[in-house]
Amino acid sequence: MSLKQTLLDATQAGAAVMKDYFDKQFTISNKEGINNLVTEADFKSEEAIFATIKANYPDHYILSEEAGSLAQNSDYKWIIDPIDGTVNFANGIPICCVSIGLEKDGVMEMGAVYNPFIGEFFFAQRGFGATLNDKIINVSKKEKLAESCLVTGFPYTYLDEPNGPLQVFEKLIRNGIPIRRLGSAAIDLCWVACGRFDGFYEHKLQAWDSAAGFLIVEEAGGKVTDLKGNHYNPYQPGIIATNGHIHTDLHMVVNGGNL
Ligand code: IPD
Ligand code: CA
Ligand code: CA
Repeated sequence: MSLKQTLLDATQAGAAVMKDYFDKQFTISNKEGINNLVTEADFKSEEAIFATIKANYPDHYILSEEAGSLAQNSDYKWIIDPIDGTVNFANGIPICCVSIGLEKDGVMEMGAVYNPFIGEFFFAQRGFGATLNDKIINVSKKEKLAESCLVTGFPYTYLDEPNGPLQVFEKLIRNGIPIRRLGSAAIDLCWVACGRFDGFYEHKLQAWDSAAGFLIVEEAGGKVTDLKGNHYNPYQPGIIATNGHIHTDLHMVVNGGNL
């Protein structure tokens, strides 16, 4: 099976598990931090995703949130979040998804993000654009940060540092800029890609949160950097993803500047 079909099938397989567990009783346990949850469904989704990938590409490297690094000597690496938005999932809030990125030689080549509860499947392949349910998507055209609608997220353990998550949030809110907090970084990124949000920033993500979503934003015409404004690398924590027009201004505010 092709890499693309394997990615699509693996994403569907994880999402089918999410759907199956959603209305049922499932076990929930805590990881590092407060209310950093993992459910039975996270593990089962991961198993279903692994089964699809391994059936087709048994020699590929896999990096996945719950299983960690299944290292192999391969040019290909699958970067998997079996449920992004686990706290939402555990509370019956249907804003959660499977997110899978596929890297080749250290470059993200494809990404898929699927929320089965609202039936939204985002996909991107480097150089071929981004789609939502097979229709091409583009970032918004909004030019001014002051008129933008933003989204962000907060880490499980509060980061006490200059220009930390609450300080940046407060500054934007005090300037009357609407900011949503959906609870799934992968969905946040996809909703920037399809123009619902003009920008997203977060201080502390893991590679599996953003691997697929950042490529989807770039392929939809957006701009993605780390907090310092350097070209984005998913193996460091900070991210700013925008429609491009508001990037400089959002970057300035995230780094302590005023609007
Ligand atoms: C979390 C979500 C959330 C973000 C957290 C992530 P999880 O992932 O993406 O939006 O704010 O930083 O850890 O734990 O639901 O897979
Ligand atoms: Ca995640
Ligand atoms: Ca997760």
